[in-house]
Amino acid sequence: MNISITRTAAPKEKPKDQSKLGFGRIFTDHMFVMDYNEGEGWHDARIVPYGPISLEPSAMIFHYGQGIFEGMKAYRTADGRTLLFRPGKNFERANISNERLCIPPIDEDFALEALKELIRVDIDWVPTNEGTSLYVRPFIIAVDPQLGVHPASHYLFMIILSPVGAYYPEGLNPVKIYVEDDYVRAVKGGIGFAKTPGNYAASIRAQEKAAELKYTQVLWLDGVERKYIEEVGTMNVFFVIDGTVVTPALNGSILAGVTRDSSIQLLKSWGVKVEERKLGIREVYDAYNSGKLDEVFGTGTAAVISPVGELNWENHIMTINGGKIGPISQKLYDSITGIQSGKLPDTMGWTVEV
Ligand SMILES: Cc1ncc(COP(=O)(O)O)c(C=O)c1O
Repeated sequence: MNISITRTAAPKEKPKDQSKLGFGRIFTDHMFVMDYNEGEGWHDARIVPYGPISLEPSAMIFHYGQGIFEGMKAYRTADGRTLLFRPGKNFERANISNERLCIPPIDEDFALEALKELIRVDIDWVPTNEGTSLYVRPFIIAVDPQLGVHPASHYLFMIILSPVGAYYPEGLNPVKIYVEDDYVRAVKGGIGFAKTPGNYAASIRAQEKAAELKYTQVLWLDGVERKYIEEVGTMNVFFVIDGTVVTPALNGSILAGVTRDSSIQLLKSWGVKVEERKLGIREVYDAYNSGKLDEVFGTGTAAVISPVGELNWENHIMTINGGKIGPISQKLYDSITGIQSGKLPDTMGWTVEV
């Protein structure tokens, strides 16, 4: 399929101070759009100036949330190349989400070509300062102007780009996490493993509660027994217990993070013992009390590795590694960001040049 390109006649001024980019507030000059109609399939792939789109108020996405999205980043290397980190995994996951949401699959190879083309058009928007990146947000929405809960027959696939600042401008700061045992995020059989808006809408109330209690993020427990650890906010979560790295197995209710998979692969390549299994919050608390809870960290595209300095479970406060980042978290952070930014050799074959 050809991608037509219409360049903007009025390029926006690019942000001058890259230390003030923040996250997801500024968008580049162009966006990718493709339509789906029953019968025609995906068609009319185009790169057009970034701007508002016109949808009827009855568009199905507004009412029933039939949509999916993805998130990944492109990084500028010191020698001026632009690298994507495992983008194929994101488009593969988009199709896993599509399948669950009854959205027609996209051609993953074509989606990657479209993304590369879009970034090339907006290449001057890729920020260059240490730790900055170009955030990539692909998404698909049901747009039929029709009420009634059923699969749509018209969809839009779009990709928008946003230059974002360094997540840790002042070095890796461990975060405080609140273990939520009232609200739940997802249950097996539901949509927890899909990246779909409803999961995030459902998480806001608990996030607000944690913020009121001065915690940065929520650690979710399983939706049935509220005993087993699932994930943290927009991150997967890892525990170093007596030298072994333990992370919840992909059980159908948590998102299969690309950073999670990358961390597991790196840890194994270093000879570290990794277990993907059911992990009870009680087991974590017991490990803490016997001095065996060495490190806790989250993994996700935004922060890459986020060390956890404190966990609050039913007002039991666990201070991890003296509230400081531990050696495994630091090594993973340095290795993954090193590969992403081209500072370290990409021994895993994870980067894709734009
Ligand atoms: C709910 C949730 N879990 C985990 C992750 C981490 O996934 P990834 O490493 O692919 O960014 C994300 C972010 O996409 C997320 O939204």
